[in-house]
Amino acid sequence: MNKMTIRDVDWQGKKALVRVDFNVPLSGGVITDDTRMRAALPTIKYLLDNGAAVILMSHLGRPKDGPDPKYSMKVTADHLAELISAPVHFVGETVGPEAEAAAAELEPGAVLVLENTRFIKGETKNDQAMAEQLGRLGDVFVNDAFGSAHRAHASTEGVAQHLPAVAGFLMEKELEYLGGALEDPKHPFVAIMGGAKVSDKIAVIESLLTKV
Ligand code: 3PG
Repeated sequence: MNKMTIRDVDWQGKKALVRVDFNVPLSGGVITDDTRMRAALPTIKYLLDNGAAVILMSHLGRPKDGPDPKYSMKVTADHLAELISAPVHFVGETVGPEAEAAAAELEPGAVLVLENTRFIKGETKNDQAMAEQLGRLGDVFVNDAFGSAHRAHASTEGVAQHLPAVAGFLMEKELEYLGGALEDPKHPFVAIMGGAKVSDKIAVIESLLTKV
């Protein structure tokens, strides 16, 4: 892969601002499938093991009018604390003084989960003021949110304009796999697709039809 990854950074004493895709399914406030969270663990563990303090940001659901407790990232912070042995903190703010103070205080080897990026209107508009505020929280931006990489939002594309940016292991794996599968596929080549949000997938189906 011709992109820089987390292997290319000396993480000692640095704050890694990591965009993950913790958009997990919930039922009655309980996570019903944590596959996406587990997929981000190799990146999180590598950063912690190499001396970084790790600040995680993600969206959860599609909150319409600002903060909605139903979509708070707190549930993912609590679950992450069960999945890793490092201390996991949560701050109920995405950008602003509280988030900045929590990020500044974060020790190497610890994790901070920010509140839902979509609680801020600027997120889906890729607002540069929000992106700049996010950029204040870390030293290096890590994008490991493959499931959100098709969205140019403040926490994906925007923040990458304000910090040095590298890919995480999940992003690297998916890009390598997809690159090979789409540019030089072995035949016979069968694609099996799943998931909700059908309208998002029509362009993908049309593109795949020329290859499969
Ligand atoms: C997904 O679940 O497909 C990703 O997390 C992106 O979510 P979105 O479609 O709400 O942007």
